Amino acid sequence: MIAALVFLLLAIGNQQVAPIFAKHCVRCHNHELDDGGISFENFDTLRRVVVPGKPDDSALMRAVRWDGDIRMPPGKKLSAREISAIRKWILQGAR
Ligand code: HEC
Repeated sequence: MIAALVFLLLAIGNQQVAPIFAKHCVRCHNHELDDGGISFENFDTLRRVVVPGKPDDSALMRAVRWDGDIRMPPGKKLSAREISAIRKWILQGAR
């Protein structure tokens, strides 16, 4: 968890969203998930689900909003505040 947070802070450089992904996503979406899924430890895989500047076109955004079939994290939706932080991060270019 701490290692994941440090990694994400360096990779994303966004202090609002890195802890959200570290806390709620990395335990499943990590390098051990090697079946073509997305990993928060490998940004190349994330490019498939994030369209920089366009949260509404981003599969990641739909997943955390529980808009479609894929609802993330499973079982417990993120808070409105966390979801809006992710939206803002994508709007600002997802860097
Ligand atoms: C309990 C494990 C678990 C957690 C926690 C979890 N996920 Fe997932 N996620 C999965 C699995 C398994 C799949 C693939 C299965 C499916 O398609 O439903 C998936 C699929 C996805 C997809 C679709 C990937 C694609 O290739 O289209 C996205 C986006 C996603 N997750 C984002 C997230 C985000 C963001 C978080 C944290 C807020 C998160 N997930 C937390 C297990 C998890």
